[in-house]
Amino acid sequence: MNEEQRLQAGLIKPGIEKPANKVEKDYSKYFETVYTPPSLKEAKKRGKEEIAYHDDFRIEERFLGMGNGRKFYIRTYGCQMNEHDTEVMAGIFIGLGYEPTDTVDDADVILLNTCAIRENAENKVFGELGHLKPLKLEKPDLLIGVCGCMSQEESVVNKILKTYDQVDMIFGTHNIHRLPNILHEAYLSKEMVVEVWSKEGDIIENLPKVRHGNIKAWVNIMYGCDKFCTYCIVPYTRGKERSRRPHDIIQEVRQLAAQGYKEIMLLGQNVNAYGKDFEDIDYRLGDLMDDLRKINIPRIRFTTSHPRDFDDHLIEVLAKGGNLLDHIHLPVQSGSSDILKIMARKYTRESYLELVRKIKAAIPNVTLTTDIIVGFPNETEEQFEETMSLYKEVGFEMAYTYIYSPREGTPAAKMVDNIPMEVKKERLQRLNALVNEMSAEAMKPYKGKIVKVLVEGESKRNPEVLSGYTEKNKLVNFKAPRSVIGEIVEVKITEAKTWSLDGEYIGVVEEDKVMS
Ligand code: 5AD
Ligand code: SF4
Repeated sequence: MNEEQRLQAGLIKPGIEKPANKVEKDYSKYFETVYTPPSLKEAKKRGKEEIAYHDDFRIEERFLGMGNGRKFYIRTYGCQMNEHDTEVMAGIFIGLGYEPTDTVDDADVILLNTCAIRENAENKVFGELGHLKPLKLEKPDLLIGVCGCMSQEESVVNKILKTYDQVDMIFGTHNIHRLPNILHEAYLSKEMVVEVWSKEGDIIENLPKVRHGNIKAWVNIMYGCDKFCTYCIVPYTRGKERSRRPHDIIQEVRQLAAQGYKEIMLLGQNVNAYGKDFEDIDYRLGDLMDDLRKINIPRIRFTTSHPRDFDDHLIEVLAKGGNLLDHIHLPVQSGSSDILKIMARKYTRESYLELVRKIKAAIPNVTLTTDIIVGFPNETEEQFEETMSLYKEVGFEMAYTYIYSPREGTPAAKMVDNIPMEVKKERLQRLNALVNEMSAEAMKPYKGKIVKVLVEGESKRNPEVLSGYTEKNKLVNFKAPRSVIGEIVEVKITEAKTWSLDGEYIGVVEEDKVMS
């Protein structure tokens, strides 16, 4: 093992003796404590380094009881990957003896698990740090930490160092397992503890987790992204693609099934690249889904797909149905081949439509949803119209839509852009009107039909009403005894709205059939 590998495995202490990365400004006064800031340049490098798998995580004896009498609070921004990371950090806190709390006022440690995908996600975090300042002044012993994707960005770390002295710790997405050491340093040090590895660490299998609820569970199948779409910060914040071994995933899903979970969401930034990094076995997402569908758990979903690696074998396996649901989220980003090219998506409008045609031929009842970016640098009216026409042509039932947000360090951020913000906003409105219209259209046929709903709990608007999701991820509200929370029930739809369905409860579905 070389020094970098030992460092990444946490066997030697990074930072003080040997800062791994360069920063523009001299923050050497912080070097008395852990100081390993991120470097986008380093994060961009992708080698053929072997990924080592560990199951030797343990909380060192010297840290046991660190949290006795103390409470932690984690606020999570961004995607489901971040939510799942929060479950791991909560597991580590509990292992250290901390108790959870759901108010910041009550907390002894506050973590903001951040998202870097767009500027407004980042602004929310800076705003929150501002709100926390008075609390820190009131309670000097309070520890405030920033983790997640924003911590992987050099500019963010520099900004926090310069202007947010209420922050005690910054650590990155590859440093989560180091939480006990980072907390320990933060208690000892008066300076900000910064530990952000720009290059990903190995895969650690046995990190503790405190899962949110006992109905649906997230399961990581891979980490990182090597696609480098020109607008996207994720390949820099999450590192290179690396897949968990099939056996570890299958075992985790089996355990969750045994514990009574009803739905699994398989997670990865680019799940269709699953297995590409295996050198010893030829095993891809289709193979994994084929193995998972034999497990006795009613529902399995996955996110997020990249159209480029969505292969025929996967389609063939998904067509077998059973617990593999017929809803696919397939981000297209744009309907214009020219824009797709400068986004470096590596597919065209035509090849995307061809993929959709194949999926629909194999799974006739499939529901497709997508992500779209409008106002990419220099997007013309005609190119935007191509996105509108593609949306209609595919017949998407829902989309997450965004105005392009330049991310420092990505290639697109350097592109000159001649499209005014008002035009981008107007395009977003037109697209959203279409998205609403097509969602409402897709909801109409449900009226009078019976659907299967996994009941998640009380509706957010009315505690008298329960709500849950269909296999195609449609929100359904209905009245039923609270005892059916966590069950899959049948509901007869009485009203179809744009984004949800109302219905009458029929009864619990006795045994959900799982393919053998
Ligand atoms: N600006 C706007 N939207 C973005 N996304 C990713 N990067 C950006 C960006 N720089 C969107 C994409 C992606 C979703 C998670 O966020 O649509 O699929
Ligand atoms: Fe946000 Fe992407 Fe990080 Fe998820 S992976 S938290 S979407 S930047």
